Amino acid sequence: MTEQAISALKSKPAVSELRCIGCGATGGTPTQNLRCSVCGDLLEIAYPGWETENESRAAGLTAAQLKAVWSQRKTSRLAIDQSGVWRFRELLPSLGECYEPITLREGNTPVYELPSCARKAGVSFLYAKHQGMNPTGSFKDTGMTTAASFARQQGFRWVACASTGNTSASMAAYASRGGMRSLVLIPDGQISWSKLAQSLDYGAITCQLKTDFDGCMRVLNEVVQRMPVYLLNSVNPYRVEGQKTLAIELLEQFDWQVPDHIIVPGGNLANSSAIGKAFLEMKQLGLISSLPKISIIQAEGANPLVRTIRENGGKKLIPVHADTMATAIRIGNPASWKKALRVLEATEGMVEQVSEVEIASAKAEIGAEGIGCEPASAVTLAGLKKLTNQGLVKANSTVVLVLTGHLLKDPDFTLKFHRGDLFKGTPHEKEASVLVPQQKEPFVLEATADAVVRTLQEAEQK
Ligand code: F0G
Repeated sequence: MTEQAISALKSKPAVSELRCIGCGATGGTPTQNLRCSVCGDLLEIAYPGWETENESRAAGLTAAQLKAVWSQRKTSRLAIDQSGVWRFRELLPSLGECYEPITLREGNTPVYELPSCARKAGVSFLYAKHQGMNPTGSFKDTGMTTAASFARQQGFRWVACASTGNTSASMAAYASRGGMRSLVLIPDGQISWSKLAQSLDYGAITCQLKTDFDGCMRVLNEVVQRMPVYLLNSVNPYRVEGQKTLAIELLEQFDWQVPDHIIVPGGNLANSSAIGKAFLEMKQLGLISSLPKISIIQAEGANPLVRTIRENGGKKLIPVHADTMATAIRIGNPASWKKALRVLEATEGMVEQVSEVEIASAKAEIGAEGIGCEPASAVTLAGLKKLTNQGLVKANSTVVLVLTGHLLKDPDFTLKFHRGDLFKGTPHEKEASVLVPQQKEPFVLEATADAVVRTLQEAEQK
């Protein structure tokens, strides 16, 4: 296709509707907590036009035309094209012509090779799709640009979320950029200070509640019944749509070659749901012809999905009292578990759980490649190692880890790890002795060249 021919392609706005994942009802009005008014289950965005036409088209364009248009937009100066989310707008619900998206040029995140981690995990090709390189340092921005834009389009002045820290940071930023106010509910003392700092600086009304994440969610569900605030947790189906673009962008970066396996951390289970939805839709539209396995990894102390699948085959959620140092995924009662389950079934993915020490070790290994991530992201590498050890991922596979948050999101964890304090006084203290070779303690020295040279020479011997 020539440049001129691509420029001439005009996509029509995507036609979409809200559909209940439980009873399939469409057209109903969602309740204040964004659930189906008929059966109370979660809602999702469906695109009826895609399902009925003979040749699959999104917004009137074929797979080849979509690829060409998305590629051409990379050189555009328009904000909507520079966003790594809205660039793929044919696969998103339409905001309508009168509304601009709220964008911080989210998405556009790199894919890195991880050769050293690949050797340790026992696979040939290992990559990280680093969503921590988003504007507020986590994958949440890709869903927030869509959901916040729809909140503004619907005339809301207030948006709100319960959070383990990243959703709140992201929501606060997008609300402020979009001229809305935001309310954040976070568990007191259970989120990292840098995430709390972000929410304050971006201007949210920030409430630290004396409960855990699941308790914050319960309180927020009551608040949204009583006040005209728009819920921006990931039960909001517009969040999921934006988060889908991670998968589209990844495939474009892989020249539309589908990797064998994608590994995602599991908390409230929206991200795994979003990535799975994207792959199923891309297959339906002929953008790809096969699906990767999508596997979900949880911390042992916050493992409701793992337990649900192992103990009752996924029939009924088994909530847990969550406890893990990977505070971003300290969630015991995940809202999107049914959506995630569908993705596991459709892609033949697996679930696995990893220990606190395994998470810490994997995080240091990703850091030692010059990449780094926050603890919740590192469950992916720890989980991959378990899956390869069990023979569930073959050595010649191409695997992508989704790193969800930036290293600087949780500096306390990293400092304590390197100082050897992370597991002091915890039940994991003995087990944690295996981490000593990975620890890089800071040296406090006299201010002389001699002292520094000596340290350098000692390091050279190691
Ligand atoms: N990784 C990070 C860094 C997260 O912040 C979260 C969730 C997850 C993984 C899990 O993603 O919930 O879609 O399964 N953080 C939420 C928050 C809950 O409030 O920031 P999920």
